[in-house]
Amino acid sequence: MKGFAAKRVVTCDPALGTVEDGAVVYDGERLVYVGPRAAAPVATLQDVGDRVVTPGLVDAHTHSCWAGSRHAEYAVRMAGGDYRDIANAGGGILSTHRAVAAASEDELTDVLVARLRRMASLGVTTVEVKSGYGLEPAHERKQLAAIARAAASEGVPGVVPTLLALHALPPGADRAAFVAATARELVPAVARLGLARFVDAYVDQNAFTVEEARAVCEAARAAGLGVRLHVGQFADIGGAELAAALGAASVDHVEHVSPAGIEALARAKVAAVLLPVASFTLAQPPPPVAALRAAGVPLVVASDANPGTAPTESLPLAMALAVRVYGLSPEEALLGATRHAAASLGLADRGVLRPGARADVVVWDLPHEHALVQPWGAARTFAVLAGGKTLAPARTP
Ligand code: NIG
Ligand code: FE
Repeated sequence: MKGFAAKRVVTCDPALGTVEDGAVVYDGERLVYVGPRAAAPVATLQDVGDRVVTPGLVDAHTHSCWAGSRHAEYAVRMAGGDYRDIANAGGGILSTHRAVAAASEDELTDVLVARLRRMASLGVTTVEVKSGYGLEPAHERKQLAAIARAAASEGVPGVVPTLLALHALPPGADRAAFVAATARELVPAVARLGLARFVDAYVDQNAFTVEEARAVCEAARAAGLGVRLHVGQFADIGGAELAAALGAASVDHVEHVSPAGIEALARAKVAAVLLPVASFTLAQPPPPVAALRAAGVPLVVASDANPGTAPTESLPLAMALAVRVYGLSPEEALLGATRHAAASLGLADRGVLRPGARADVVVWDLPHEHALVQPWGAARTFAVLAGGKTLAPARTP
């Protein structure tokens, strides 16, 4: 048995809270003890001094399996170009689609592994990764195969794969036929192959309608997959109500959602995944965070890592923006990137430090968890473990 002794252990577990002069002990891939250092079982403990220990971070929304670069488009947007106009002109998602379609499965695997390792160095031990740039079934499957191979690689966080089935219409496709084939063929095939745990759809103006998303999500439910939805990034077209009716795990973005939509989310216990890097990049106003909080909707914070709206790999950056721009407290930001994020992915044994949970542990080179939402862009991890294995090298104090 091994572990850490630290001045401050923030468990993110409602029963255990924060332990001063604490210890975290693991045996293999599971935690066996979390509590006062004085009561810890006999184990090899590394004393990390004044550093703070938290659960490994959980990034519940990323598009991190992509190729190419959108730097030219970014420059156009910064000069006043509109994201949706660029998309309508064949840029945006379609631009990355072309790069992903041209990339081999090996190439996609390699870029994703590198990205996942960089995420681990920032303290992230579980990452949801969406497909959605393949668009055509063969390329979607290639993307999901690359995600599975990357997930099995050394030194990467745990991966939760999501089929982003409706992201954009493939070039030249007939809309109705594409949606029908996605529901009837792609979703069941992906479920059968075990290539995804969730299905996602982009429910918005300029994207897919509630009825189109419903068809695909019902197929997901029938195939035993969970549902998470891009909802209300640009306009409220009723995506929150759809998510509630489907028993979705999450609605993501929700910059635009009505009071009735928020009520529906709260009643159906759907989490709201906040993506402050995306709204910051698009210079949009924040979602109605106070109303979501007041209704009791669990708040998750995620990076949205993608080459268009969220050109970052950093969940800590998203947490910092969630506090500065969205008005979350540092505690809410941390819970949104740990326990609530894990719960939205159906992973009750992650995002918390408690006996029996997966040994996903971060020792921060910081004195307090509130400092986590301060350093912009810097990796401030001292040690990162996932399933009891070191992801990012631990240093000696
Ligand atoms: O979450 N809104 C749609 N999808 C992504 C952006 C994808 C892209 O621009 O490549 C998002 O913001
Ligand atoms: Fe997204």
